[in-house]
Amino acid sequence: MRDAKKLFIRTYGCQMNVYDSERMAEALAESGYVTTDSPEDADLILLNTCHIREKAAEKIYSELGRYKGLKAARPDLRIGVAGCVAQAEGEEIMRRQPMVDLVVGPQSYHRLPELTARAESGGKAIDTDFPEEDKFEKLAGPRRARRGPTAFLTVQEGCDKFCAFCVVPYTRGMEVSRPPAQVMAEARELVERGVREITLLGQNVNAYHGAGEDGDWPLARLIGELAKIDGLERIRFTTSHPNDMDDGLIAAFAECEKLMPYLHLPVQSGSDRILKAMNRRHTAADYVALIGRIRAARPDILLSGDFIVGFPGETEEDFARTMALVEEVNYGQAYSFKYSPRPGTPAAERDQVEEAVKSERLARLQELLDAQQQAAQKAMVGREVSVLFEKPGRMAGQMVGKSQYLHAVHVTDPSVRAGEIRAVRITASAPNSLAGEVI
Ligand code: SAH
Ligand code: SF4
Ligand code: F3S
Repeated sequence: MRDAKKLFIRTYGCQMNVYDSERMAEALAESGYVTTDSPEDADLILLNTCHIREKAAEKIYSELGRYKGLKAARPDLRIGVAGCVAQAEGEEIMRRQPMVDLVVGPQSYHRLPELTARAESGGKAIDTDFPEEDKFEKLAGPRRARRGPTAFLTVQEGCDKFCAFCVVPYTRGMEVSRPPAQVMAEARELVERGVREITLLGQNVNAYHGAGEDGDWPLARLIGELAKIDGLERIRFTTSHPNDMDDGLIAAFAECEKLMPYLHLPVQSGSDRILKAMNRRHTAADYVALIGRIRAARPDILLSGDFIVGFPGETEEDFARTMALVEEVNYGQAYSFKYSPRPGTPAAERDQVEEAVKSERLARLQELLDAQQQAAQKAMVGREVSVLFEKPGRMAGQMVGKSQYLHAVHVTDPSVRAGEIRAVRITASAPNSLAGEVI
């Protein structure tokens, strides 16, 4: 018998790509591929790509350039591009990098075995359709391998909000929610395989509306039903849009013990003028009021956000409003970016803010956000948290895991096993993690 074919996948971008890469590896396992950690060993290299900012997209071409030598030495090596760059650029990728054999968009992953077979026999394979059939149904294979204690589970995909800066509606398509029964089955299967924490994923996960046999399931209902699964201890969800935060979901933070007190709720800007130009459809005051309601339901919740600086038309005064909003909300964690014009999006056509101005504003914003993050971490010192341990740390005898607030926590304690949830007293705060002792 011939050796198993080897698959190397490199994943860029958001958590949904991490989930998709797992599903692609499982789909290709059916065609005889086992995964490898090194591109040198691979028969098939797949790059699962991100198109959100220019840098993310350009990275792909430099990565492909690095595989030129491998391909020249082994003409049988097949190279594929999946994900959001594949969807956005399609055959343009093969024009720029003729050594690419396969281009597959996020909505066609269930066709991968067929596309790969075409590439294996020397053809070029491109699929960037938005097919009618249920991708997830077709991707579902028997999956039994043990897993680590945490997993992602996509419940909603795509976006119809069309923020003026964003490529996601073009790369992921319109909003689709998976049926609750399918999600529940996948969650049960994950728990049987050792998973104790599930993060529900969607581009607008709180816009989830699953068509259940007994009617519509908003996200809060899905979370409530998932919480009934024995062995599933923790539930998270990401990413949410402020306009889809309904009362039921806010109440879930108060009522559902398994729903962790952490929420990523991007606002992008604190200026109403810019929010309007971005097509975010809410004001800064709406957002701050919403945060107030969420904190009333769950006072200890750790809030995270996304920010864009230097959006077309952003003045110093607009930026000052972003800084003021950050001061008011006080984030435990955040991501911030310079606006990057994306081809085909409305804002790319507008008058741009100078690069130097963007850089200077980003530095000021990040200094403030970083100070807030450090303060939130230092405030944990002396407190008792619950930690789901995931894996050994870098030092001998060390185990690392996540607190309910998603802080990375490490302990040195030989009694701790991966997959256990233990009470831990926090003893020190480092820039990106906390140290603690098991109680
Ligand atoms: N669905 C999520 C965001 C997905 S993209 C939401 O609505 O919040 C993740 C983040 O990337 C965004 O929140 C935004 O802050 C950033 N982003 C998206 N497009 C961008 C662009 N063109 N330039 C810079 N940052 C961008
Ligand atoms: Fe992009 Fe999020 Fe806006 Fe949708 S809601 S267009 S994913 S930033
Ligand atoms: Fe990037 Fe696509 Fe995710 S553009 S952020 S990989 S949805």
